[in-house]
Amino acid sequence: MASAGEGTSIGTAVEAAVPCTLLGLLLQGKSAGASSDAVGDRSGICFMREYAARATNIVLWAVLIAVTVILLRRLGRVVRFWAKGSRIPGPPILSFYRHSKLIPEWGDLTGYLSKLHEIYGPIVRLWLSPTELVVSVTDLSLIKEVLIKEEDKSPLPGRLFRLAFGDSSLFAPSFDLVQQRRESLEIQLNGVLLGKSSSIPLKVLDCIVKKIDAFMAEGPVDCEEMSQCVAFSIIGSTLFGHSFLTWSNADTYRELLMRVAKDASFWASYNIPPIWKRGFWRYWRLCTRLKGLTRDILVQCGRSYTSFEKTGQTSWKETAEGINLHLILEDEPYGNIMGMMFHGYLKISGLINNILIKLVLNPEMQEKSFWITSFDVQKMQFLLATVFESARLLPSGPLLQRCSLKHDLNLRKSLTIPAGAIFVVPVHLVQTDSTIWGKDACQFNPLRFVSKTVMYFPSLADVNCGFLPFGSGKRACVGQKFAVLAISTLLASWIQEFQIQLHAAPEDSALLQHPPSPKIMFVRRS
Ligand code: HEM
Repeated sequence: MASAGEGTSIGTAVEAAVPCTLLGLLLQGKSAGASSDAVGDRSGICFMREYAARATNIVLWAVLIAVTVILLRRLGRVVRFWAKGSRIPGPPILSFYRHSKLIPEWGDLTGYLSKLHEIYGPIVRLWLSPTELVVSVTDLSLIKEVLIKEEDKSPLPGRLFRLAFGDSSLFAPSFDLVQQRRESLEIQLNGVLLGKSSSIPLKVLDCIVKKIDAFMAEGPVDCEEMSQCVAFSIIGSTLFGHSFLTWSNADTYRELLMRVAKDASFWASYNIPPIWKRGFWRYWRLCTRLKGLTRDILVQCGRSYTSFEKTGQTSWKETAEGINLHLILEDEPYGNIMGMMFHGYLKISGLINNILIKLVLNPEMQEKSFWITSFDVQKMQFLLATVFESARLLPSGPLLQRCSLKHDLNLRKSLTIPAGAIFVVPVHLVQTDSTIWGKDACQFNPLRFVSKTVMYFPSLADVNCGFLPFGSGKRACVGQKFAVLAISTLLASWIQEFQIQLHAAPEDSALLQHPPSPKIMFVRRS
């Protein structure tokens, strides 16, 4: 940077030092044309140049100091983050990128964490990059403490929902943002269940049975495909009402939802949307089409979203067959509804798929359920137990996560999880831990839940018992009760009408945590 000096040499110094600033260039141009002007003009120009040089220097120094302070503060934060993170047991840091490269060797992050827990015990830290720290815990008392104390979630899933569906006040990382909508949704979902013996209307069950007949007319069905189709009808009719069942674009909507699900995590892993990549724009177009279809179904269902949007009119509320979307749609027209559709569809289909796999591999369990004549699902302890046991052995999400966005989290056992670190619970490990579940922890045995269903039902997520398929604490799943009752109702209706049989089992399926989808058959009971 140039320093202001004396006399005409100052002008030359300024030109040399700040030739790229607009002001510098203007002054250069002006001085060339003014060389033959009067002395008074020259001294005026000199003054302007000196003034410009000083002003430029001040701005440059201010910028330099600000950048340095920001960088030093960031560096300080990273050093503190490393220092605190390094106190947690875990593999030595050989290279910051080493661990993320190691993960594929173990299949996935959960597989790798499982190995690390064997070596380092119930608390393990893992550096994924210089600023990404994962702390995995399998100790029940610590899990409980974190899930109760920590209200925020890591930014990644929030980014995924925002990128795909728009702003959401249900799936945002910060608890402050989601608290209100969570409560209203919970009231809505419980309202759907209130006073009903079955959480899925007969009309929806009939429609599902017709779909099964149509599927079976073409031969054995793919278990995963079947589960997705059924889950889609359940969540769609719950959110949008019965006209969802006859909606002509339903198949396209489901296909788009699956395509978005396939790519969503990848594109959300970028901190800044990678607008320079063609694939990103393809993904963006998918999401936009999905939004368009969501608008269509809202209109189709007789809840003209457009008029609701423009006039605030809520007359469709009275005719709604599904849940009352008014509270959910109010601020974020698509983020919430599409987020629920996405999450509910994937989770319910995952659980139905897992239950079907367990039922076809254990046909005696179907027969045990068959004696149930009452259709009051809440009393069907054995069916509920089957749902719980399937959710225990094959949880539909591998990790529960929390992230203290602002403050360090101080836990008992003098453990500090630094702000920004992602706390995870490897659900499958906890739910198959033999110290919690006994020697037969890896066996499918719904009976273990029979005496506990009443105890579990008011609050399914019971950390003390290591049962976490719906999470726990302030950010636990608000749809858990609805989902369990809906799936149990579905199972009850299926088991009364069909014997579900295995057509072809994939090889070694019993050994895999997520076996490839088997072919199954729905055989009508005579
Ligand atoms: C089998 C079905 C389902 C499973 C296994 C499931 C599982 C989960 C899990 C594991 C979480 C994270 C909990 C935590 O971090 O502690 C979650 C969150 C959530 N679930 Fe579900 N869910 C299911 C169905 C549903 C349905 C049907 C709805 C609503 C229509 C729903 C609404 C939500 C919402 C809004 C959250 C976000 C809570 C928050 O971040 O504050 N879920 N769910």
